[in-house]
Amino acid sequence: MDKLLIRGGRPLSGDVEISGAKNAALPILLASLLADTPCRFSNVPELRDVNTSLALLNQLGAKAKRLSDGCVEIDASCVNNQVASYELVKTMRASVLVLGPLLAKFGEATVSLPGGCAIGARPVNLHLSGMEQMGAEISVEGGYIKAQVKGRLKGCHIFMDMVSVGATENLMMAAVLAEGVTVIENAAREPEIVDLANCLNAMGAKVTGAGTPKVSIKGVASLKGCDYQVLPDRIETGTFLVAAAATRGHIRCLHAAPETLDAVIDKLRKMGAEVATGPDWIELNMHGKQAKAVNISTDPHPGFPTDMQAQFVALNAIASGAATVTETIFENRFMHVPELHRMGAEIELRGNSAVTNGDSKLKGAPVMATDLRASASLIIAALVASECETTIDRIYHLDRGYEKIEEKLSRLGADIKRIKE
Ligand code: UD1
Repeated sequence: MDKLLIRGGRPLSGDVEISGAKNAALPILLASLLADTPCRFSNVPELRDVNTSLALLNQLGAKAKRLSDGCVEIDASCVNNQVASYELVKTMRASVLVLGPLLAKFGEATVSLPGGCAIGARPVNLHLSGMEQMGAEISVEGGYIKAQVKGRLKGCHIFMDMVSVGATENLMMAAVLAEGVTVIENAAREPEIVDLANCLNAMGAKVTGAGTPKVSIKGVASLKGCDYQVLPDRIETGTFLVAAAATRGHIRCLHAAPETLDAVIDKLRKMGAEVATGPDWIELNMHGKQAKAVNISTDPHPGFPTDMQAQFVALNAIASGAATVTETIFENRFMHVPELHRMGAEIELRGNSAVTNGDSKLKGAPVMATDLRASASLIIAALVASECETTIDRIYHLDRGYEKIEEKLSRLGADIKRIKE
């Protein structure tokens, strides 16, 4: 299992190229199942979850292949299997997003039920009840969701009890080929939802309102392939910005989407960072100063993203002053805290909040990544830790969501290397 070896103490400085968004790429790749002709996607990051999506598409009978330079081509005209196996779904929960497209296009789908994961129970009840309202018959047998519909799905009015990114995406993909109009109320508003809607519209779908709590989808009889470029990754961008703030550095993120990061940039400015933005870049300069800790509460977009919570907990720990970070989306998303304790971070867990008093003096230590964004917080802590080096074990979590992270950080001046084992 690969590990990362980091020697802290160097401020990050320079330019970093931001990759395509993992959380936009996954639903977009799977949406290709809906098209009758080949799709070509660009700015697709080279990540383990993307490879799992391509393997899943190939398992369904599609021809999915990587071309050069972040491009992927998928021909789903030859899909001959509607079963997403446990072997793939267990390695990537987002595989459940094939349910909507398969059901809409082929009238049936059998998809392994994703289990819980390190950060919470993460049920898929909203996905299933929305599809039932559209006329699907759904049962769970032997750990698999079995869904079928006679004829086409029927457009309907769906009110979602909770804001869910995945359920909004799955139901949008189901509705594009349904008969009539579907309205999703209390829809998630994340930028990745807008990106998926734009991609579906490029295939010939009629989706309006994406990015607002009410998404309307007028079903069409068929969709064609498209050429589509994936949105820049806002969580990768935010992670580099926090790493630069923690090391009192000065970096510029290129090929970024500043308009997707309002809540994160606002917090960084409150922490004392000078942040400038252009159409596709963000520059952060700490002028060598220590950050000031801020209170944060995670929320669905446009609130503060849960996927940035762990990174800010690490930053608050070494910043000046006391602050509280409250997690409202997932029930168990503080697995990074005990690992940060091992590096000397003073963080107290109180229910769903992480309380810091500031000025923690971090020292390098062997630590273990527990989930994707937790891994990012350990890297940030390691970049500022003194005395010993830090080794981060189980970085396969990191490889799910950060493209070439050690290369990018090295170019910014970090002392980081991957140890292959
Ligand atoms: C997506 C992101 C993930 C991010 C999360 C919240 C992808 C691939 N992953 O995950 O990085 O952390 O959004 O921004 O895009 N819930 C239910 N029933 C459901 C569905 C969700 O109770 O049917 C709950 C979840 O357990 C969770 C909350 O709703 O507590 C939000 O989850 P959701 O927005 O669905 O997250 P994902 O789409 O899984």
